[in-house]
Amino acid sequence: MSKQRVTRRQFLNYTLTGVGGFMAAGMLMPMVRFAVDPVLKHDAAGDFVVTGMKIADITNEPTRVDFSFEQKDGWYTSEVTNQAWVFKDENGEILALSPVCKHLGCTVAWNTDDANPDHFFCPCHNGLYTKDGTNVPGTPPSAPLDVYPYKDSDGFLALGKAEPRKEA
Ligand code: FES
Repeated sequence: MSKQRVTRRQFLNYTLTGVGGFMAAGMLMPMVRFAVDPVLKHDAAGDFVVTGMKIADITNEPTRVDFSFEQKDGWYTSEVTNQAWVFKDENGEILALSPVCKHLGCTVAWNTDDANPDHFFCPCHNGLYTKDGTNVPGTPPSAPLDVYPYKDSDGFLALGKAEPRKEA
């Protein structure tokens, strides 16, 4: 009788220790991942993605450029497709603008609003940007469109990670 009691106690101890161990591991793993992830991501953020746009083909008219790359998030790898609006400004400098609206993140497009030709237009709340990505006062966006850093990769446009504009 007393032998059976000890066995039950032992069983409970083992079970609770096992369950506690699993729960502790489940709580610690995400913390470790969050601590290590920024270190792992640092190199990837500096990478440039080569697009299908030839540098020689870039004109003064903003053109939509889609580009895809593999994104690793911990153990999960997925293919991400991004977009840029690319053109040469009046000085011949290449400008690659992010299409992500600075109001609430909808996608802007070039010259799609008949009432405001030659502007980037956000259809969600009628946001407007001038050709260089500057937000038009009186419309919802409160900052200019982000800009992709770029490189020439054997004659093709390579884009980095879009960044907020330094000056407003
Ligand atoms: S999300 Fe673009 S104007 Fe609101």
